[in-house]
Amino acid sequence: MAEHPCPKWLDNAIFYEIYPQSFQDSNGDGIGDFAGILSRLDYVAGLGCNALWLNPCFASPFGDAGYDVADYFQAAPRYGTNQDLKRLFEEAHRRGMHVLLDLVPGHTSVEHSWFKQSMRAEPNEYTDRYVWTDSVWKSPEGYGSLRGISARDGSCAVNFFSCQPALNYGYYQPDPAESWQQPTDAPGPQATIRAMIEVMRFWLRMGCDGFRVDMAGSLVKQDPESLGTMGVWRQVRAFLDEEFPEAAIISEWGEPEKSLACGFHMDFLLHFGSSRYNDLFRCENPFFAGRGDASAFAARYLESRAAAAGRGLVCIPSGNHDMERLARRVHGERLKLAFAFLLTMPGAPFVYYGDEIGMRYLEGLPSVEGGYDRTGSRSPMQWDSSPGAGFSAAPKERLYIPQDEAPGRPTAEAQLQDEHSLLNEVKRLTALRQRHTALQSWGEIEFVHAPKNACPLAYLRRGGGETLLVILNPSDEEAVCPLPQAPKELLYSIGNPPKLRPGEAAVPPVSCAVFAL
Ligand code: NOJ
Repeated sequence: MAEHPCPKWLDNAIFYEIYPQSFQDSNGDGIGDFAGILSRLDYVAGLGCNALWLNPCFASPFGDAGYDVADYFQAAPRYGTNQDLKRLFEEAHRRGMHVLLDLVPGHTSVEHSWFKQSMRAEPNEYTDRYVWTDSVWKSPEGYGSLRGISARDGSCAVNFFSCQPALNYGYYQPDPAESWQQPTDAPGPQATIRAMIEVMRFWLRMGCDGFRVDMAGSLVKQDPESLGTMGVWRQVRAFLDEEFPEAAIISEWGEPEKSLACGFHMDFLLHFGSSRYNDLFRCENPFFAGRGDASAFAARYLESRAAAAGRGLVCIPSGNHDMERLARRVHGERLKLAFAFLLTMPGAPFVYYGDEIGMRYLEGLPSVEGGYDRTGSRSPMQWDSSPGAGFSAAPKERLYIPQDEAPGRPTAEAQLQDEHSLLNEVKRLTALRQRHTALQSWGEIEFVHAPKNACPLAYLRRGGGETLLVILNPSDEEAVCPLPQAPKELLYSIGNPPKLRPGEAAVPPVSCAVFAL
């Protein structure tokens, strides 16, 4: 029995999220691919990240950047073959890295063969694979629907965009007057769960190490307390424990009190939900931009940790493909403080590709593949000073998404050479985290100072026999931090180190310090 209810490798995992379209193009077609990712594994490892999350890379018409899967068992040809993906797993493992794929269990593309079969008038194996009403004139209450596109008489619920019909996991509280609302233990919903488990088994056997799970909290319909959806995940977790105990599942859910209770190993804090994540990075006055408030975040964070009761982890991403880039509101040296926070918090941190060099959010880009205002966070990685920034040899007009054209656009190459760069700070911070168990996933946390609308934010991390104190002051003013005890040693600092006085520290503006107590 493991010490913690999670695969051991999550203890010190630091993830790097790769949006495959935009990371590295190896064949000059203007879009990223598996071979490109493979060629950059050493860069990711050099950053200190030892795990990857790849956004969906399966066959798809890409109406929602691949979150509309047409075949769960087939890599998207534009990225390469299943064999290429297998090789990527192997090469990552050779470097001591783990790889998560993106599982989209709630919906498919309208192009999926399951959906095509399900649209037929004659009953067949897939008739109940999706949520259909019994008449084209009736829509499923509370959901958008697809109507008038099938020989079958009925409307099909959609989960997100109109091209994403909802898979049928049943209704938790079916209305007895609507016999098309199937209970969760009906054959249709149970077959959907088995099909999804088959998808997971296929890729786990191929060598992936687990899944980031898309919209994990919304599978069962009419399920106000999420009890039905939680039942689905308990079944999935039982399968994993039995067959792949080292695999990790990480939920896009944002309610750790639910997700961790039903089997997820880790849940994301997200830009939606009640986590107060936005207070730190993405609101009018984010804490890390220097004038915001971290107190509500700290209180909420502790509440959800308490509710999670040690069953799993909560992870905080620098950003992702759905939210504006970190560098949209947090600038300059303060970006280093944001990373100091991310890399000293419990749970395995996630670095969104390009955030480590402060890639900008590109305003006003035309939507690409269902990106809409998310497109500005999905532009191609900036590797070097060549015209395509080392991302692609394709002419500019053929790039998947236009690149940042600003003359001083940040690049990995330039930042690797500058010891004061954000990239090198991130490298030092990942190394610091790896040297101290207290800073890793399971180290305890206690906020010692999280005042309302003031700085600094300070917390203790405990683990591996040591206690560390992290102090962050993103504001323009010197700030005073009460000290629970006299620090023994300054382990790390950004900006000027604090001046220690009896019982308190004077913390310079825009600075961070990590002390051993
Ligand atoms: C969440 C994903 O992160 C997002 O990119 C996608 O559009 C929706 N789920 C629908 O799958």
